Amino acid sequence: MIKAVIFDLDGVITDTAKYHYEAWKKIADELGIPFDIEYNEKLKGVSRMESLCLILDNGPGRDSLTLEEKNELCERKNKIYKELIGSLRPSDVLPGINEFISELKKNHILIGLASVSKNAPEILNRLELRDSFDYVADASTVERSKPYPDVFIDNLINLGVNPGEAIGVEDAESGIEAIHRAGMKAVGIGNKKVLKDADIILSTSKELSFSLLYTSLEMTMR
Ligand code: BG6
Ligand code: MG
Repeated sequence: MIKAVIFDLDGVITDTAKYHYEAWKKIADELGIPFDIEYNEKLKGVSRMESLCLILDNGPGRDSLTLEEKNELCERKNKIYKELIGSLRPSDVLPGINEFISELKKNHILIGLASVSKNAPEILNRLELRDSFDYVADASTVERSKPYPDVFIDNLINLGVNPGEAIGVEDAESGIEAIHRAGMKAVGIGNKKVLKDADIILSTSKELSFSLLYTSLEMTMR
């Protein structure tokens, strides 16, 4: 039985994944390290520091800089990112998300947020969505980012549901793996090749509906 739907934020609720890319692109260009949209897929769902390390791996390697230098680059990336999200407003919620959330509420399904972004609270406030969620994970207390299941398990515990009663919604390969490692079913939104391991793959958030989840997944859930 479906009792909860747990969402990723960046690239699922709103298109901030493109701003993470834009900010990292500036840093990678400064460092002279090749970085494109395709390589960026690896960064989705992973923490700020691990994202920088993945970029460095494509150049001189993650051990080429001191921790202090890496912290400074992470801070600079976040400054650029914060400028980019500064103009987010409720109309930036991706198509179909508000309708899907209303449908879940009507069906008494709990709603969680499993983002590893420390900027998640600010983004939710800007989108005026905070009150729609029954639980929002605090990224600063989540030890490991995706593909580890920590942020989804934290949601399951705080929502009081079993993995077999919850569905995760993600746009990242690492996110689909994290959902599965938490023992949940996964809905992937976006690139079909990247999200090939998801239980349901949708091209856009507009296709999300409770009846689709119910008919496709309910029978396979405990
Ligand atoms: C995830 C994004 O949601 O949050 C990653 O997919 C990002 O790209 C991570 O690195 C951490 O975000 P922040 O805002 O704390 O730097
Ligand atoms: Mg995402």
